[in-house]
Amino acid sequence: MDTSVPDLHDTRRYHLHHPVDLMTEFTVCESLGSPRSPTLRALGLARTYGARLGDRLRDRGLLWKGCRICEIGGGYGSLMRGLLEAHGDLVRRVLMVDLSRFLIDIQRKAMEPWKERVSVILADALEVLPALSGIDLFIINEMIGDLPVRTGLDPKRLPADAEAVVARFGLAVPREGPFHVNIGAIRLVEAICRKSAPAFLSEHSSDPIIPREMPFLAKGLEATGWPREIRLTAHSEYTIRFSHLEQVARAFGRKVETGSLLEWVGYANAEKARFVFNARACSTDEQALILEFLDHIREYRWMIIR
Ligand SMILES: C[S@@+](CC[C@H](N)C(=O)[O-])C[C@H]1O[C@@H](n2cnc3c(N)ncnc32)[C@H](O)[C@@H]1O
Repeated sequence: MDTSVPDLHDTRRYHLHHPVDLMTEFTVCESLGSPRSPTLRALGLARTYGARLGDRLRDRGLLWKGCRICEIGGGYGSLMRGLLEAHGDLVRRVLMVDLSRFLIDIQRKAMEPWKERVSVILADALEVLPALSGIDLFIINEMIGDLPVRTGLDPKRLPADAEAVVARFGLAVPREGPFHVNIGAIRLVEAICRKSAPAFLSEHSSDPIIPREMPFLAKGLEATGWPREIRLTAHSEYTIRFSHLEQVARAFGRKVETGSLLEWVGYANAEKARFVFNARACSTDEQALILEFLDHIREYRWMIIR
């Protein structure tokens, strides 16, 4: 076992101190965050991201009358606002946990209409999770790609923490390096699994699931199965190897459901998607918005841990 410490990519200082601008990150939740969103309209979707998420969680029995929700990494609060606008009658309490001083102020403002029921705290998810109790459902949307990643690994000389999770959960590693392991996301899933509550997660994946009716979306994808760096303003995030997270959750005896986020948001117009995606030449604003959205969301997965 190699006990030297190779690179740990860690964005926690950035999130704590930097004024985060999610508009430069093009999150799926923000693209579909309001009924007036041009992308929502171009796609012909009727529900905001938060409302749709609430529908799906309710239909699966995970959002019920009296439910206490914890959202980790809630950004501008758009997801929770959409969920409460549509399903507020079901929700008893909301705890928003975020590491950005800048974003928690924005979340407090977004939660103003429900302020009696909502608490917002500044904390690192990995530190605070073990201490949380009284939560019926965790929502962690487009956040785990920001958690620490062991980068530039040689499969024959893994650092102690990566070797420990690989051995404990029987995780696959490539024959040759360098490769990266989403050590923070694995730890977060472990911490969730030590609680009894279910969780919804979504993120940019390194092992995407392409909707069956839209195989053309796989064309030109960079996904090799292993996490890759995505450079953003003043920081980077890494795509997530969801199959590792599934293995961790199953090792705890949890049930896992997972799929394509494009299907999850309810976009099913395969004909239009094929035309816009294959042509790549957009003659209208609507087509340009659809192309931009498809190109982005095709790598995203959702996962429910029960
Ligand atoms: C890419 S943004 C996504 C925001 C929102 N969930 C969305 O989908 O638009 C990541 C969010 O996670 C928060 N975050 C990043 N690292 C965190 C950590 N270690 N603990 C808690 N929150 C964190 C960021 O401040 C931000 O709110």
